[in-house]
Amino acid sequence: MKNYKIVLLSGDGIGPEISEVSKKILLKLSEKLDFNIEIKEELFGGIAYERYGEPAPQKTLDSCKSSDAILLACVGDFKYDSLPREMRPETGLLKLRSELELFANIRPVKIRKSLINSSTLKKEVIKNVDLIVVRELTGGIYFGEPRGVINIENEKRSFNTMTYGTSEIKRITDVAIKIAKKRRNVICSVDKANVLEVSQLWRDTVSEILEKDSEITLNHMYVDNAAMQLIKNPSQFDVILTSNLFGDILSDLSAMLSGSIGMLPSASINNKGPGVYEPVHGSAPDIAGQDLANPIAMALSTAMLFKIGLNEIRASEIIENAIDKVLLKGYRTSDLAGSTSKIISCSEMGEKIINEI
Ligand code: IPM
Ligand code: MG
Repeated sequence: MKNYKIVLLSGDGIGPEISEVSKKILLKLSEKLDFNIEIKEELFGGIAYERYGEPAPQKTLDSCKSSDAILLACVGDFKYDSLPREMRPETGLLKLRSELELFANIRPVKIRKSLINSSTLKKEVIKNVDLIVVRELTGGIYFGEPRGVINIENEKRSFNTMTYGTSEIKRITDVAIKIAKKRRNVICSVDKANVLEVSQLWRDTVSEILEKDSEITLNHMYVDNAAMQLIKNPSQFDVILTSNLFGDILSDLSAMLSGSIGMLPSASINNKGPGVYEPVHGSAPDIAGQDLANPIAMALSTAMLFKIGLNEIRASEIIENAIDKVLLKGYRTSDLAGSTSKIISCSEMGEKIINEI
């Protein structure tokens, strides 16, 4: 029997509540299907800072590196906002991504029929949306050097560097191509080439790679226009290929097409080691500990872990179907609630999903 080692990082805020649900899903699936799951929990984010004085301790990183896949909830809390940058939970997240070389972040946005009324956008606009944001995750302005704050001419001045090399652009483009070939063969590369040199290199490199590929239709869009088009006519998109910062912004925007950011999963991967599977949403400290969170984005991330990380397609489909069934019955956490929905808590949503598995 196959034995999978999964590291679970429940992190901060609503993290432990939504992790509890995904943990039960993992265990139920390992009972039902012919594999065994070993879950190792490690501290990560603010909670790790409190215990070990750093958000991404070596012990946690080592466990992650020797696992088959990592399931992460979310990190951060207002109370850590005043810490020095290197101690902040978000910096720990960037360190994890960078140490594991997770250069490709995949964020699928699909509209579930049951949630068509949950979006703030009109039904006609969102009904055919099925897109994937492929975001570069270990480069660009998030990691560029030099960065910092200096004193100059009697004032503070801060700076960051947005930089990409052709090899970084090439490898993320290759991921987008692979994904597009399993879908509708359309890639929209998003940049700001009308203003930024780094974006011009991005555009030229993507064009050069795709020139040789007759199957894929490539178009380019400036990021400001892409934001507008995502609201105006989101179903025109299939695969959106973009850099770290633009992908961060556009993926939150895309999340709202689906009704709630509490619905959007993601996978951060490379071509070799274990990947990190995590919801796109943050740690929502304002509702933490109240059993109000929506556990679905993390449950869908667990489905992605099975599909992409472990190639256990059946397990992934079982989770997706269970979630669909619960939503079709009208159950909603409060972030998704409409006038006719049955509002339930995070743990109740978890029970309902597990009962359908
Ligand atoms: C995300 C998050 C992170 C990011 C934060 C928490 C550092 O917003 O995964 O989208 O900006 O990448
Ligand atoms: Mg983000």
